[in-house]
Amino acid sequence: MKSRFTVEGLAGQKKLRGEIRIAGAKNSALKALAASALFEDEVQFENLPEIEDVARMRELLAAAKSSPVLVKEIAERFRASIVLTGPLLARYGTVTFPYPGGCVLGERPIDLFLQGFRALGATVEEHDELFHIKGSLRGARVVFPFVSVTATETLMLAAVLAQGQTVLENAAMEPEIPALAGYLNACGAGISGAGTPTITIEGTNGRLLRADGKTFSVIPDRIETGSFVLLAALLGDGVTVTHCEPAHVAALLTLLRRAGVKMEVGTDFIKVKGGGPYQSVSVRTHEYPGFPTDLQAPMAVFLTQCAGEGTILETIFDGRFRYVDDLVRMGANITVMNPHKIWIKGPTPLSCKELESPDLRAGLAYLIAAAVAEGASTVDNAYLIDRGYERIEERLSKLGLNIKREEV
Ligand code: EPZ
Repeated sequence: MKSRFTVEGLAGQKKLRGEIRIAGAKNSALKALAASALFEDEVQFENLPEIEDVARMRELLAAAKSSPVLVKEIAERFRASIVLTGPLLARYGTVTFPYPGGCVLGERPIDLFLQGFRALGATVEEHDELFHIKGSLRGARVVFPFVSVTATETLMLAAVLAQGQTVLENAAMEPEIPALAGYLNACGAGISGAGTPTITIEGTNGRLLRADGKTFSVIPDRIETGSFVLLAALLGDGVTVTHCEPAHVAALLTLLRRAGVKMEVGTDFIKVKGGGPYQSVSVRTHEYPGFPTDLQAPMAVFLTQCAGEGTILETIFDGRFRYVDDLVRMGANITVMNPHKIWIKGPTPLSCKELESPDLRAGLAYLIAAAVAEGASTVDNAYLIDRGYERIEERLSKLGLNIKREEV
């Protein structure tokens, strides 16, 4: 059975109030769960978000315990499944997996993973739509031709148990990476430089890691943080986003201040005081610490309510504007200039529509657009939103939004 959300829009009136607590980061939890395959004992987690992708990763892990194979039907449902190939290969000397699934954001190849495995001494074969990787891993220097978050994480994890030193150059710097490396180091790994473009891993030569009761505490979700700050800026009359790490959304906060949003930023909270009318800004997505591509759809909704013209330049993916048509149907004035750039002129009132999100992050953007609009909108395929956001309707209801889940 499928479910969908119905949102009673506030017609642009700033009525939301109270606190909203940020959950653990999906993209930290999934990688740490994958890394648990490097351990001799059990890893305990704190602040693990209760979301569908976490449930799928647990299923994959449970099935991979008997043999290092990623079950096709599960792995095809989310891109992060591929991160598990690194630890499984490191531990068992072999791993079999299908092409990973996940949100359709344009082409999402896996060449960097395969080249990295080869550099570490593994052989790669592909038949019957499955990849078979084999070999006992030896440290190597891997230079990524461009930055990839999951390729960095996968090869870092693969190198942890290898023989000798691995150096990853042009590595991703997303905060989930040093968070993971710090924990692994506390449990016996030899990783330095995580959070910088050069990560060095001294392999343990097959010695498994030991948690010895140390818990992995999942860091706050920076994409949730940014999305809720945007919602609060649009519709809040005193909303505080709590249990977050403001430094992880610094690029967004800079742009919002420039747009005229007043905020009080604490060590672990962001109190959105509103302000306005807001002025449009131009956005360019970038690897961390730049503006995250995962926030570009919610940011587009924000820009529809700002005065003047703004652009969004998407530099990471080539198919991430599939939400634009729906926002235009709702009344937004957006032109797709090319597959990487849109132009938005505001402010425009939005009206309610029946919506179905093209991906997980755009799903939350649709909830925000529906909240801004006049009238009751529906957002179909709630599973896409549940993949990354825990009990979203309960949490948004507490702020005063009339949002309901219904089975269809
Ligand atoms: C991660 O995806 C995140 N997913 C994405 O979040 C996020 O949008 C993205 O990083 C960018 O920040 C997870 O962490 C599970 P990339 P990832 O490899 O690692 C190309 C969400 O909703 N590329 O950094 O898949 C790729 O096509 C998701 O939580 C290759 O060409 O992104 C893209 O253009 C959506 N070959 C660019 O690199 C490869 O082998 C960067 O993507 C690998 C990637």
